[in-house]
Amino acid sequence: MLRLLVLAALVLCGQCYDGVQFMEDNTRVVGGTNAAKNAWPWQISLQYQSGSSWYHTCGGSLIRANRVLTAAHCVDRTVSFRVALGEHNLSQNDGTEQVISVSRIVKHASWNPNNVANGYDIAILYLASNAVLNSYVKLAALPSDGAVLANNYGCIITGWGRTSTNGSLPSILQQAPLPVVAHSTCSTSSYWGSTVKTTMVCAGGDGVTAGCNGDSGGPLNCAVNGVYQVHGIASFVSSLGCNAYLKPTVFTRVSAYISWINANV
Ligand SMILES: *[C@@H]1O[C@H](CO)[C@@H](O)[C@H](O)[C@H]1NC(C)=O
Ligand SMILES: *[C@@H]1O[C@H](CO)[C@@H](O)[C@H](O)[C@H]1NC(C)=O
Repeated sequence: MLRLLVLAALVLCGQCYDGVQFMEDNTRVVGGTNAAKNAWPWQISLQYQSGSSWYHTCGGSLIRANRVLTAAHCVDRTVSFRVALGEHNLSQNDGTEQVISVSRIVKHASWNPNNVANGYDIAILYLASNAVLNSYVKLAALPSDGAVLANNYGCIITGWGRTSTNGSLPSILQQAPLPVVAHSTCSTSSYWGSTVKTTMVCAGGDGVTAGCNGDSGGPLNCAVNGVYQVHGIASFVSSLGCNAYLKPTVFTRVSAYISWINANV
């Protein structure tokens, strides 16, 4: 089985988990372009505290005024977390940000940090206060329970992850087209084989666009009837490289966890 590279951006590699290679610090979409300011108003930047500074580590999606959906592997470390909402340029005050601390973390009970290929890479963050919803900060729409998108369905990944494998970090939120690769294809041996489960969504794999370190936890945005829904939570890529050919970015399939979300939100 291929070694997996989880899309988190974690500085404390001494706390990395066997079989899962984390990379240090920030993360960004490969092959993307700058998003228009606040074009993805449910996208959050998940940040952790080290010393007196805060660092971007993952993405996430606002699903209630005080709840954020992200990946479990983003919050495996015991550090303080906060989320920045209404964020665009991480390097400056855009005037639209709301920064709220995370007061409680609920990870899926079946999540195993030593086996990301098992799935369950999903967590809900409870915020210490309600976000103010406005034109910059909006709730994500989620898919209906069990909804599975067709092969080649057009979706868009967004995040502040690395812009190339081992590459540099963007300040501006990136977006890139990432078409769905159906499970029947993604689970063939030329793609991911049995590493991908039906509770995951594969997207990309053209060797150009991909998620990369720091995009973890963030959304795969797919328009259904003209409304973007968060169909995926960025989970892992191949250790061969973020945009390795025929190794699509793998997401937790949100529609497989609707009842878990409703029970834990
Ligand atoms: C982002 O903010 C930094 C720091 O203020 C600034 O140098 C940079 O030009 C900004 N990027 C864009 C695209 O505005
Ligand atoms: C990324 O860095 C790792 C560790 O230094 C190295 O093994 C790998 O070959 C690099 N990948 C690329 C595509 O540069």
